[in-house]
Formats: sequence, structure tokens, C-alpha cells
Amino acid sequence: MSEEVIGLDEAYSVKTPEDNKRLYAKWAATYDSSFVDAKQYRYPKAISECFDQVVTDDVVRVLDIGTGTGLTGMYLSRLRTGVVLDGMDISPEMLGQAKLKQRTDGSAVYRALYERDLTRDVPNENAPYEALISSGTFTHGHLGPQCLRNLLPLLANNGWLVVGVNNEHFEAKGFAGELESLVALGAITQPQILRIDVYEPGSVHHGDQARVIVTRAIN
Ligand SMILES: C[S@@+](CC[C@H](N)C(=O)[O-])C[C@H]1O[C@@H](n2cnc3c(N)ncnc32)[C@H](O)[C@@H]1O
Repeated sequence: MSEEVIGLDEAYSVKTPEDNKRLYAKWAATYDSSFVDAKQYRYPKAISECFDQVVTDDVVRVLDIGTGTGLTGMYLSRLRTGVVLDGMDISPEMLGQAKLKQRTDGSAVYRALYERDLTRDVPNENAPYEALISSGTFTHGHLGPQCLRNLLPLLANNGWLVVGVNNEHFEAKGFAGELESLVALGAITQPQILRIDVYEPGSVHHGDQARVIVTRAIN
């Protein structure tokens, strides 16, 4: 299959971390043009706006979960110019694209980028972070609700999670139940669940929404 025709059907048909690595290895170079621009995908922008609205201004050290080509970091760095951003993703090819993203002053969006399988325990020498942000990565065949537990140790006490989850995936995989368990364990505060549009009004996919989990880690 050529890179140009990769789209949501193929992206949603992956099942394992290895499938994800294969998919994004061939999609990385054209992801921004053939998908983000062509389909008017606004999820990274929308999640950054959400983050900017809910997270306190003193937060500086932020980790982008499932960085992809770095669009979430790019938008967040425009809204919060002082933010120090690291990123994690399973795909070295996607991270290669993220490395090229620049802030408005020409400096790199990300301080450090880590190749990590986020379905497993996640080592990171730069932890703890004051916040995690994520768009497009908690979705069909990518990251499920159990991965939230792997991420919590990366956060400082009271650290924020602003995590977008595909709507159908949220229901099908029981995110609400996992969040309830984490609250009961005393691992997170009672979450707020927001909704955002994933595509611009002119897009063929307009109307698709994502849930956004907003909560804080109790570490
Ligand atoms: C649809 S892209 C979203 C990228 C970016 N956040 C955005 O909104 O444009 C999903 C990303 O999740 C990453 N991913 C999939 N499975 C993963 C895993 N097990 N661990 C880490 N990253 C993973 C992929 O490599 C890909 O970059």
C-alpha cells in the first residue's frame, strides 16, 4: 500500500505495538500533509487549547505521550512559550519528524524525545513531569486504559494529566471503570471528562469527537 492512501481505516486496524511500529514507519513522512492537512485534523490544537484552559500557569515540565510528528508540542509551545517539552513514542520515524518541529523563535519544540513502548513500564530519566498531554494515541489498537497506570509514575505529586481518548475506544475499553479504580486506589483525583472536536468543520470527518481526561496524580 502506498503512503498516500494510509488513513483512519488502516490506523484503526492495528492491534499490537509491532503493528503500530510498522504503520507509522511508512506513514511518518506524509502524516502531516496526507492526513493532518488533508483531513483538517485539529486534535493536537484542540488538546493544547484544553491544556491551556485547565492547567495552572506555573506548570513548565510537560511530557507529550504518543508524540507522533510533534504537532501537539508545537501548538502547546505557542500557547505556553515557557514550556519545557519532552516526547515519547514507539515510532522512531514519527519522532524523527517531531525533532524537526520548531517554536515561533526557531528553537526546537522538544528538549528530548524518547523511543518507548507505552504499553509497558516506562523508564525516564527526566521524570517527574508536572503534566502529561496526549492526543490521538489512546485509540483503537494503540493505547488502552491500563496504560494510564504505566504513566502515573512519570508525574510529580499533583501532576496533571490532559489525555485525549477516542470516543468509541473510551466506551469499548472501559476507561470510565479504570478511572474509577484509580480514584479508589488514591492514585488520581476525581477526573473531569471534556469533549473536543477532532476535525475542523470543513472535514469529511467533522463531527468525530474525543473525550479528554483531566485529572491529577497523587504520588
Ligand atoms: C495517530 S498518531 C498521534 C500522534 C500525535 N499525538 C497527533 O495527534 O498527531 C498515534 C501515535 O501513537 C504512537 N503509538 C502507537 N502505539 C504506541 C505504543 N505502544 N507506545 C508508544 N507510542 C505508540 C504512534 O507511533 C503514533 O505516533
